[in-house]
Parts: sequence; structure tokens; C-alpha cells
Amino acid sequence: MLIRSGRDGLQHPLSSDITPRAVYQGRRALLRAMAAGAGGSVLAAWAERDALAQAPGPGRLAPLPGTRSTVPGAVTMEKPTAYDDVRGYNNFYEFGTDKDDPARHAQRLKTDPWSVQVEGLVHKPGRLALEDLLKLSPMEERLYRLRCVEGWSMVIPWAGYSLSRLIERVQPQGSAKYVEFVTLADKAVMPGLRGSVLDWPYTEGLRLDEARHPLTLLAFGLYGEVLPPQNGAPVRLVVPWKYGFKSAKSIVAIRFVEHEPRTAWNKAAANEYGFYSNVNPEVDHPRWSQATERRIGEDGLFTKKRKTLLFNGYEAQVGQLYAGMDLRKNY
Ligand code: MTE
Repeated sequence: MLIRSGRDGLQHPLSSDITPRAVYQGRRALLRAMAAGAGGSVLAAWAERDALAQAPGPGRLAPLPGTRSTVPGAVTMEKPTAYDDVRGYNNFYEFGTDKDDPARHAQRLKTDPWSVQVEGLVHKPGRLALEDLLKLSPMEERLYRLRCVEGWSMVIPWAGYSLSRLIERVQPQGSAKYVEFVTLADKAVMPGLRGSVLDWPYTEGLRLDEARHPLTLLAFGLYGEVLPPQNGAPVRLVVPWKYGFKSAKSIVAIRFVEHEPRTAWNKAAANEYGFYSNVNPEVDHPRWSQATERRIGEDGLFTKKRKTLLFNGYEAQVGQLYAGMDLRKNY
């Protein structure tokens, strides 16, 4: 993003240095099974699944469990990032630009009552109360990689359902080609709005077929509980094959439009943040390479960076959306 700030801003020790209990239990299950004579990747995958299933709710917020998603690609077998890193190292510029600002300031966000206005080119526009949104489709648990444009990544167990469920409900008109997401801009609780880093409210957009892709998640929770305010409570987007800034937090309106909408980051620096923003190791950000990434929690002095994958590793699921497109031009 325009303003970068390092991990150094965090005052507290890295909670990711402590192995989450569920992962530890998963490893023990794996070791037990290996001792019994079995082995191989199937077993390892099973152990990771087992670990996630047993993940204890962090117990700080209201529970929001989901059944494991069956959407292809929705559950990576990678180790989840520690809960305290997920809620302590954030981008949510409305609450400040340092990574620990959102955790400090977003607790003032009032998420009850909350509603999302659905408008524009749909047959069934209207205001949907959060309670109704929560009931619109069964809650699924998905374990997604999220790669930030700044060069770090996390693996987060989300609770939510495909945005396509909501899209089916509101029935887009034939002329609707894009979806614009508008997020909360409340000066009373968001100190970041006093600055002009971005043109508030923070907005984002997707092509309608991207928005309809089953991996595009309308998320209400993480780690088996409702979203912490700093992660975009009470409802946000998670688009796992795009840089993190496409995943708009604290959504208040969803607008169906004919033309490609401007987005907050695109308005701030069009040459750096394009509309598509698909994770692509071969297209550098004008000011830095996108070839590698640092997984939060893997902060050892000698820990190698990970190679960034095209579409953040979701190419099999989403590559066809961009068939024939020049991804260098459409960055
Ligand atoms: N949504 C809003 N409203 N404001 C923001 O500043 N930051 C984005 C995205 N959504 C942002 C936002 C960026 S840059 C990233 S990387 C992700 O949120 C971070 O999500 P996380 O803090 O839950 O990991």
C-alpha cells in the first residue's frame, strides 16, 4: 500500500511463536498414526484436517461455527496463522495505518444494528439486516490463504458462505456487469478518516463473474467466532486469489453496476493498484517485487521467504476467468 509499516510497530511478543493447541494436537495425531505404521501425504492431510476440526474457539467473541466447505479449493491444508496474529496485525486504514492501530481503535466500532443496502441493477434491491444475512445460507468454514500486496500472507479459517448465494437472491439484471462494495465511513469512531490517505469511504469492486465465483466469500467470522472488529466485523469480503486489499471490510452497501467501478486504491494510485489485482508473482508492484512473500508467524532470522503463486495458488479454480486476458495490462 502507499504507506508501509513494519512488524516492528508491534509492542507485544509474537504470539505466533507459540504453537496453537489444535496444531499441536494434529501433530500428535500424525505421530501416533505414523507410529502405527502408516505414512504419506494422505495421512498428513488427515492430521491437518483433524487439527482444524479440534481447533478450540479462542473464546473471546460470540461463537460462529461453520461446517467444512466442500467448494473446490476452499480448504488449504496449510497451518493456520495464530489467532493473535490474525487479530493483531491488520490493515484497516479507517482505524490508522500502523499494523496494530486496528486492534487498538476498532473496538469502538458498533456492529449492532447493522444492515447492508443492496442497490443498482438488481430485480430485488433492498436493505438486508445482518440477522437476515446470517440466515441466508448455511455457514461454512473455509481455510484460505490471504496474500497482502505488501508482501506478507496469512492462512485464516473463515466462517461465511459464497457471495453468489446473496447474488442469486437479489437477481442481477442483464445489464449488471460489475459489483461495487462500499464500506463504513463513520468519523465518530474511525480516526483514520481524518487523514486523506484514501478517498473515503473505502470502496472495492469485482467483475460480476468474479463475484459469483464460489470461492468469493462473504465472511462473518473467523476461528469459529464472529469477526473481531479489526478484521472487518460484522461482514466483509474475502477474495483469496486477489491481493488482500480487494477483500473489503465492514460492508454497508453492495451495488450492481454496468461499468467498472473506481476503487479506493485505484483512485489513490492507479499505476500501482489496478482493478483486477490478481496475485501474480510475475507482475511486480512498481516499487517492489511480488515474487515472494513472508508468512506471518514464520519470522525466524533464517526462515526463507515463500514463493508467491499465480492467483495465490487458486489457479485451478479461477484461471479460466481470465482466459485470453493480458495479465500484465490488467494488473
Ligand atoms: N477494508 C477496509 N474497509 N479498509 C481497509 O483499509 N484493507 C485491506 C482489506 N480490506 C482495508 C480493507 C487490506 S490492504 C488487507 S491486506 C486486508 O483487508 C487485511 O485483512 P485482515 O486485517 O483481516 O488480515
